[in-house]
This record gives sequence, structure tokens and C-alpha cells, in this order.
Amino acid sequence: SLLPTTHYITKNDVIPMYQSRNKWSHKGMFGHSLIIGGSFGKIGAVTLATKAALKIGSGLVSAYLPKCGYQILQISVPEAMVEVDSEKLLTYYNFKTKPTVIGIGPGMGTTDKTAVGFEAFLKENKTQLVIDADALNLLSKNESLLQYLPNKSVLTPHPKELQRLLGVWKNDYEKLEKAISFSTKYNVILVIKGAHTTVIDEQQLYINSTGNPALATGGSGDVLTGIITGLIAQGYQPLHAAIFGVYLHGKTADLALQKTSYETFTATTILDYLAEAILDLF
Ligand code: APR
Ligand code: MG
Repeated sequence: SLLPTTHYITKNDVIPMYQSRNKWSHKGMFGHSLIIGGSFGKIGAVTLATKAALKIGSGLVSAYLPKCGYQILQISVPEAMVEVDSEKLLTYYNFKTKPTVIGIGPGMGTTDKTAVGFEAFLKENKTQLVIDADALNLLSKNESLLQYLPNKSVLTPHPKELQRLLGVWKNDYEKLEKAISFSTKYNVILVIKGAHTTVIDEQQLYINSTGNPALATGGSGDVLTGIITGLIAQGYQPLHAAIFGVYLHGKTADLALQKTSYETFTATTILDYLAEAILDLF
């Protein structure tokens, strides 16, 4: 019944998406990303996403995280502004920042307190969202929240998070069918992560051509969240941010293999190779 159109994401597709800067550009033109996440022991996840949003060119970046992560974040990302929630968990979501876009979920946890605050946050929120990790898990636990997502929110599930969101599927065909109807029903963009990361926007399927098992390392998804968030902040439309983001993220791993090994590549290495991935476009 559903006949999706399939595209393969190559360099030629992303080059026209690239937004160049002119001499008079100022930081106000490149948006303000807010990264929300973290819990005691998982401050690294929100730190990586925050660094990635900066590194991809967001004009300003703020992070909102539990108090126990305050100094960690300020020291490891001096460019970022920070606001804090309760001591070890996200509870209140009462930040003052007015961002262009919010990336939410990395390291956030799924405790009851965090879930209650998340529900209140979603009901109030009007800002464009990129939703990952535990924020996806909280949506899966309470599907009535999906109606509050802004149109064209970008959801970035890995296979397990996708299964929690869509329920079990019998085969790849049924998986795609479920993903397409989910995207259509809630008017959101799905970035299904894996060796062949696939971006789904209603009936349109975009399969990424870059990336390799060097990316199979803790925190690489958190970096992708920051990259997509930072692109939306700069004015990339959510679909283009998802496509361009997964392309660049994968490309860093491909380029890195000329100088480093699968084993030594870490989530931070993605950030180190972002410049080369962008320069490779031209
Ligand atoms: N080939 C290409 N890309 C790959 C491969 C591969 N073999 N393996 C992984 N990747 C890419 C994925 O496409 C994705 O972009 O690496 C990234 C992995 O993202 P996640 O699975 O979200 O991993 P991670 O960042 O470690 O997640 C951190 O948050 O999502 C939760 O529960 C999750 O504990 C985990 C934490
Ligand atoms: Mg992840």
C-alpha cells in the first residue's frame, strides 16, 4: 500500500545543501542550540552533544543538565553557556534560555522524576526539537506525548530505541512500513541509525552512503544529535539537517581511516575530523 521513494545520500546531494558564510556574517545568524540531557555518571553524553553543536557551527550553544555536571561541562566546553536542574537528575526543565532549537535526550535517564518533568516540558514547548536516546525511550513509554512534538521534529533512534518506539516488526519490509506510517502520523523525521542509517520523511527514504564500524563506539550517537541540532540552529531545514548531518558524521569515520584505526577512533575523533569532512565537499 505504501510505495516510498528511495534516495541514496551522496556528496552530490549534500553539496547544494551547504550554506556558505559571507564576510558580514555574525553569530546571531547561526542560531542558538540548547542541548538538554545528562544524569549522574552520564554527563559525558550531554558534553559530547554540546561540543558537536558548537563544532558544526551553531552561533551559540547552551547546555541544560543536572547540577553535578556543571563544572564538568564548563571546563570541557568553555564556549558553551550552562544552566542547571536538580542535583543528579533532570527534574524541573526550568531553563531561561530561548534557543532556536533544542537537542534532548543524551544521558538523560528515564526515572519517574525525569519523565514527569519531560512531559510538562513537551506540553509547553514550541521550539524545534531533535530527540535522542532516553528522551525517545520516555516517548515510547508514554505514546500520548507524541502529539506534542513540533512538526518535523527529528528523532534519532538506534535499533533498540526504534523497536521501543514502533513495536516489534516481522521483517525489514514491515519495519519500513511502520516507520513510514509513524513519520506520517506524527509529522516527524526519523533517523534510523545503523550501518545504513536511513532518514525517513513520510514517503521519502534517504539511505546514507558514508560511515563504517569505527563509529561503533560509545557516544557516537550523542555527537550526531549535536551535529543535527547545530545545523538546524544555523537555518538548515530539519530534513536537510538530518541528511547532511548523517552524511558528515559518517564521512568523518571514512576520512579518519586514512590515518587512524577502527579501534582508536572514538566519539571525540568524529569532532576532530568534522573539518576534513566539510572541506572534502569542495
Ligand atoms: N557502520 C556505520 N555506522 C555505525 C556503525 C557501523 N557499523 N555502528 C554504529 N554506527 C553509527 C550509527 O549509525 C549511529 O550514528 O554510530 C552511531 C551510534 O549511535 P548510538 O547507537 O546512539 O550509540 P551511542 O552514542 O553510544 O549511544 C549512547 O545513548 O542511545 C543511548 O542507549 C544508548 O547507551 C547508549 C547511549
Ligand atoms: Mg545513542
